[in-house]
Amino acid sequence: MKRFAIILAAGQGKRMKSKLYKVLHPVSGKPMVGHVLDTVKKIECERRIVVVGHGADAVKSYLGTSAEYVLQEQQLGTGHAVKQAGALLSQEEGTTIVICGDTPLVKEDTLQAMIELHTRQGAAATILTASMDRPQGYGRIIRDTVGGSVLRIVEQKDCTPDEDAVQEINTGTYCFDNAKLFAALEQVTNSNAQQEYYLTDVIGILVQAGEKVEGYQTSDHSESIGVNDRLALAEAESLMRERINRKHMLGGVTLIDPSSTYIGADVVIGADTVIYPGTILKGQTVIGEDCIIGPAAEIEDSVIHHGAKVTRSVLTQAEVGKETTVGPFAYLRPGTKLGEHVKVGDFVEIKNATLDDGAKVSHLSYIGDAKVGRNVNIGCGAITVNYDGYNKSVTEIGDDAFIGSNVNLIAPVKIGDGAFVVAGSTITHSVGDNDLAVARIRQENKPGYADKIRARAKAKAQAKKQQD
Ligand code: UD1
Ligand code: CA
Repeated sequence: MKRFAIILAAGQGKRMKSKLYKVLHPVSGKPMVGHVLDTVKKIECERRIVVVGHGADAVKSYLGTSAEYVLQEQQLGTGHAVKQAGALLSQEEGTTIVICGDTPLVKEDTLQAMIELHTRQGAAATILTASMDRPQGYGRIIRDTVGGSVLRIVEQKDCTPDEDAVQEINTGTYCFDNAKLFAALEQVTNSNAQQEYYLTDVIGILVQAGEKVEGYQTSDHSESIGVNDRLALAEAESLMRERINRKHMLGGVTLIDPSSTYIGADVVIGADTVIYPGTILKGQTVIGEDCIIGPAAEIEDSVIHHGAKVTRSVLTQAEVGKETTVGPFAYLRPGTKLGEHVKVGDFVEIKNATLDDGAKVSHLSYIGDAKVGRNVNIGCGAITVNYDGYNKSVTEIGDDAFIGSNVNLIAPVKIGDGAFVVAGSTITHSVGDNDLAVARIRQENKPGYADKIRARAKAKAQAKKQQD
């Protein structure tokens, strides 16, 4: 049987009080609608259709070509939203999953179980429900007092006091017989408290027509969260963090303090890596096995190979080789590529530069637009001078070269293999292989001159005092 999915993502999300469209608010670093689509993608479907409206362009450009889109020009309710997908789907036979773009915690397993129940029961609709102590803002599942079958869903704003007291709620995820869904939508009206066309009314309509409707209740509270405001956003964030951390710990990663460890939804971490507190791992970051990360490392879209160590440092679009150490207090900017057994120490900034195996930049350096060879040693305070206010130029340093402390390498410049650049030099011309470069004034000592200079300074101060 064919299967389809519709994701509702056209609402503005007024209760968020935000310039950002609701479904694009991130949870664990990923927009909510991204979580939903990623979960839906794990279920085999012929077509995945996202209903867009508010912020349509932003949502489409974020999700890209992994879904099809239909536009809901006016947001007249969830039923009206689903109806927009009718142009693509209403003639189809099959099962259609409908899910809201603001429920980022719904799980693949749960969708599978719901679909299975739906199919097994031959239902016209199956609702993913949950039980809540004090549900706020959720539709209530009204069941028959005799037999307990689902009769309808009533939105909280339309509830009688008895209905309001019901603790089983609609999570906003459903499975429908496709043809019956679109036929029932034709009968939905907007005569309710919010004057909207509710998708939830389809349930009552199907039951009235003698169709079978099932409820599949999840016991995982997190799955029931529909993020309508910032309170729910924070709750979703914390539950998602728990879930992600748990996955990594069960996968063999040690989190010294999960409550202060923030790992993005798509981050990959190898077994036996230890993550210290205050660490934030974002985007498409991949970390190998046996690494030590943190405390207080912030790493985005970077690749860290096995056995590397990153302490109190910020990395963006960087690659760190095997058994390399970074930090404390290093800043690796986009295009940084460190080989194996490299050492990048404290207060070192690197941008768009390659450091080959065994290179060392131990303290207080800036390396930008550079190619640094194997086993190069860059002394304390040495920098590449890569920018003249208009142009960026490249510095090349050959294998085994030694760059003394406080050297300025004024790019474009090339230092040969095995060359030695004397501390304090400002290098403007390239240096050949195995050459020594000195570019500083030769030292001169003047015996006893220190006292002379002091006497002169003292006299000057006294003269000034007398004048005053
Ligand atoms: C909805 C359900 C409610 C359920 C809750 C679960 C209805 C009428 N109510 O309420 O029973 O308990 O979700 O979280 O369905 N949307 C559109 N177009 C619209 C309106 C909404 O695409 O015209 C999208 C929104 O972007 C959102 C989703 O549909 O992703 C749900 O809409 P929302 O307004 O958040 O519904 P709730 O009031 O939370
Ligand atoms: Ca909602």
